[in-house]
Amino acid sequence: MAPTRWPPPPLLLLLLFQFAAATATPEDASGPPPSPTPWPERFHAVLFTNLTNYSVASTGPPLRITDLYYDWPRRRNLNLVRHQLSADPLYDVEWNNGTSFYFDSSTCRVERFPVGVLPPWWLSGGGAEYMGRGVTGGIECHVWGKAGFIVYYEEASTGRPVRWNFIDVTGIEQFVMSFEPGVALENDAQWQAPARCFPDDDDDDEKEEQGKGNDHVASSSEEAVWDGLEAGIRLLRNLAGAAATS
Ligand SMILES: *[C@@H]1O[C@H](CO)[C@@H](O)[C@H](O)[C@H]1NC(C)=O
Ligand SMILES: *[C@@H]1O[C@H](CO)[C@@H](O)[C@H](O)[C@H]1NC(C)=O
Ligand SMILES: *[C@@H]1O[C@H](CO)[C@@H](O)[C@H](O)[C@H]1NC(C)=O
Repeated sequence: MAPTRWPPPPLLLLLLFQFAAATATPEDASGPPPSPTPWPERFHAVLFTNLTNYSVASTGPPLRITDLYYDWPRRRNLNLVRHQLSADPLYDVEWNNGTSFYFDSSTCRVERFPVGVLPPWWLSGGGAEYMGRGVTGGIECHVWGKAGFIVYYEEASTGRPVRWNFIDVTGIEQFVMSFEPGVALENDAQWQAPARCFPDDDDDDEKEEQGKGNDHVASSSEEAVWDGLEAGIRLLRNLAGAAATS
């Protein structure tokens, strides 16, 4: 049998589960499984992102540094995405009404999603399956899986998020490099979606619905970049929907 390069998602989950179970401590086995820590209402995190199933054909540059400003009171999620060796960062502004703007110095793309910003309890509110303890980046963690979409690591001693992996074709893995609860973006002028995101006031809605075929996307290489990002964002939004209804 030819070895597969990457196990299919259920196998991956099973392997992770078995690994976690094998390394779980006896005290964990006796008590009830721990619950994930809710996210703080506001935080700033710096994430290292690796699209581990990167392929030139399907995705943009696989390595990114993302500044994430999560702001639940304002129902806003900001991602400043820097691709490796690119001088032109990508702004991703997500609003709770389901509208997301993605723009850099020359392009803009507007997407509509059926659900809004993830609530702080998207994982702690139910539906997370405890997978045991695990060590990632040398940090002792509790590990949960949710709905076959995500594997989530939080630091066992503090509850801080450490890492999450999306179980999807891009294999997005995000590593939390810094985590600052309570920090909100101070000057958000540069996060205002630029005029090019609003070409015709009259038929905005219609254009927004068009998705991928949309001519707001400047080039096919740009489009490739969106594909990977979108996969992750869609998953997070699906999870938000699942959390809200479970
Ligand atoms: C990104 O993921 C790929 C596939 O798992 C791995 O080979 C590569 O070393 C990773 N790169 C970094 C910088 O972590
Ligand atoms: C959602 O909110 C943003 C920010 O206020 C706004 O720019 C956008 O047009 C809104 N979308 C809809 C569909 O109302
Ligand atoms: C990796 O990506 C390729 C296409 O780019 C896809 O066919 C394959 O299913 C992906 N692997 C996984 C594990 O999702």
